Amino acid sequence: MKEKLVRVGLLGFGTVGQGLAKGIMMRSDNFYRILGMNIEIKSALVRDFEKEREVEGIHLTKNPKEILNDPDIDVIVEVMGNEHPTYSYVKQALANGKHVVTANKLLLAIHGVELQALAYRNGVQLLYEGSVLGGIPILRTIQHGLLGDQVEELRGILNGTTNYILTQMVESGKSYADALADAQAAGYAEGDPTMDVSGLDAACKLVILCRECFGLNIRIEDAEVSGIQNISIAEIEERKKQGLVPKLVARAVVLNSPWSNGGEGSEQLLQAKVGIEWLAANDVLSQVSGVDNGLVLKTRLVGDLFWKGPGAGGLATGSAVLSDVLEIAQRVAQERYKVTTAR
Ligand code: NAP
Ligand code: HSE
Repeated sequence: MKEKLVRVGLLGFGTVGQGLAKGIMMRSDNFYRILGMNIEIKSALVRDFEKEREVEGIHLTKNPKEILNDPDIDVIVEVMGNEHPTYSYVKQALANGKHVVTANKLLLAIHGVELQALAYRNGVQLLYEGSVLGGIPILRTIQHGLLGDQVEELRGILNGTTNYILTQMVESGKSYADALADAQAAGYAEGDPTMDVSGLDAACKLVILCRECFGLNIRIEDAEVSGIQNISIAEIEERKKQGLVPKLVARAVVLNSPWSNGGEGSEQLLQAKVGIEWLAANDVLSQVSGVDNGLVLKTRLVGDLFWKGPGAGGLATGSAVLSDVLEIAQRVAQERYKVTTAR
């Protein structure tokens, strides 16, 4: 008799890891109905056993092998962040035949193509819905909902921390430093907030979106990137008089797609950029405030599409990560059921 449990191992148990654990607790009634199985977090890798955690009762370990080599673990969820040692852990997990879910845009922007190929070769899944736009299920929408269409251009607010800081500065006159401290306390910012304020976090998400939307691989260095560090309250007040608000906008466009003037077979040229833009009040992205993210896609068949919602935070991102875990759990459940009925 096969076990009716899908076991998850977590690499990291901070904001997103605990957001996922809360999501699993809040939604656990439904798992058996959806999957015929339950989901259990078996253990979580951390650095510090003394740290206070919002979620208790999960087995914590400092030994990555306890998770990476555990034959009982079906899915490894990487929510540690950073490129190293995460890259080697994720490679090891995939090579060991484990499905992997990650919310790590830096890792994906740098190594995503290689890791996806490794997952494919090992017959496992690598899913990353939480890596872009937090709680907005944008990657599934592009991969499935827009499968019959073609994205031609994208423009969005992809970083919650900087949008929160800019909104606070514009609406409450808060200083840059105070607004950043609030975003850090709320768990929106990266471990090193330079990633957020320099535009690098948005650039990583832009790289992932370019892959998903245009099927083109660019490096972070291919995008022109600047952040919000030099903005001042004085400049904000001055531009406000002209009805303009500052937003950290990421944009990308294919300049010579086969259906535009480049001609069939011509090399695809992509222009990608992250930087402050001063938007008019009637721009849809002006309505995206606080920690929310927003994305406008211009597609060939449908035209303009727009999404808005929480772009960071434990529960919002935990929900996106949980949707990946459930997609994998469905596959694990089907495989176990097939084996059980075949015997
Ligand atoms: P976090 O709160 O800093 O949590 C990181 C966790 O990983 C902590 O539990 C930490 O252990 C553990 N960890 C880090 N390095 C480790 C190492 N070398 N060995 C063992 N454990 C290690 O980070 P987070 O905000 O949850 O973000 C996690 C990932 O999700 C990042 O890739 C981030 O970009 C992405 N993400 C975050 C958000 C968000 O809103 N926060 C949204 C979307 C995506 P200790 O607890 O012991 O320190
Ligand atoms: N630090 C990131 C942000 C987390 O503020 O958008 C979500 O990816």
